[in-house]
Amino acid sequence: MTGLRASITGVAADLPEYILNNEELSRMVDTSDEWIMTRIGIRERRILREPGKGSSHLGANAVKALLDKTRTKPSDIDLVICATVTPDHQFPATANIISHKAGIKNAFSYDLNAGCSGFLYALATAQQFIETGKIKKAVVVGAEQMSSIVDYQDRATCPIFGDAAAAVLVEPTEDDTGLVDSILQSDGTGLPHLHQKAGGSVKPASHETVNAREHFIYQEGQYVFKWAVSKMADVSLEIMKRNGLTHEDIAWLVPHQANMRIIEAVARRMKLEKEKVMVNIEKFGNTTAATLPLCLWEWEERLKKGDNIILATFGAGFTWGAMYLKWGYDGSPGT
Ligand code: UT7
Repeated sequence: MTGLRASITGVAADLPEYILNNEELSRMVDTSDEWIMTRIGIRERRILREPGKGSSHLGANAVKALLDKTRTKPSDIDLVICATVTPDHQFPATANIISHKAGIKNAFSYDLNAGCSGFLYALATAQQFIETGKIKKAVVVGAEQMSSIVDYQDRATCPIFGDAAAAVLVEPTEDDTGLVDSILQSDGTGLPHLHQKAGGSVKPASHETVNAREHFIYQEGQYVFKWAVSKMADVSLEIMKRNGLTHEDIAWLVPHQANMRIIEAVARRMKLEKEKVMVNIEKFGNTTAATLPLCLWEWEERLKKGDNIILATFGAGFTWGAMYLKWGYDGSPGT
């Protein structure tokens, strides 16, 4: 170990302009604003409607905004990890495309798929490269065009997801802020309950798979719900305990934005008042690997150096995890 800590030193995001609200959705499938607000807590979500753009469009915009705002030269970036379940292509990696679009030429870049936990896994991965002294500047971006795999004829899934990208800059620090601890877990028994049936090597795309609508998200909502509540709360409590934190020590919980009821249940188990919980699900829905950095971006102005923050997540795989970090700076850099 070098004695270095990895710290988030900037955050930026990109959201498509088009807003798909519950009223419009209820003209597409048999649903209502009342059902969606009560059962999930989403009022609207952003949708990237321009054909041919994809997740890298949002990801590159977020990364360009990040470099701009932190006054970082693209040539100084050593590593780009893109967390996504909606890559532009099966290959090459969307991270390569984002790097190209953002003018990042001296970095190695790759994608990481851990479902909705992808950003947390990617952040913990970047942390290792920084802490060993191997690299100095990493960009971790969660970029999703979820609308490309949502079945807008399936009322059980189409209200949930939205499109967005958000990115953080990760650099070494020698003060006592930064990424302190993380717990990352997975369990492959989750496969039947949350997946995309076709389009991979097990079931390549065919006329039949398209006709059977198998290229969309398949989710057994109630089953996933129970796992999400218990696993997100378990790891959050575990990371608090092993770092000697009580609910009073925590400035912010940044939970994955899958369902308002899941967020409330996790916060309750952590004994956190709702003022300490970042929630923007109502405006953006579940943006999969982008939810955590999208919250950090929206709350950045209010964050203070040294704030104890817990990130918590759960997603397809199943994958889940929590991270404890001490925020590295006051307010928004460059403003
Ligand atoms: O981000 C990755 C991890 N994912 C999650 O954490 C998601 C976890 N799951 C959930 O958030 C919730 O399970 C959902 C939001 C997906 C569904 O909510 P639910 O309260 O579990 O509803 P349900 O699937 O049990 O359905 C209850 C009823 C059903 O009708 P019946 O069988 O009781 O007559 C559904 O057909 O609600 C019906 N329903 C709807 N009604 C109106 C399902 N979707 C809708 C809808 N509008 N959009």
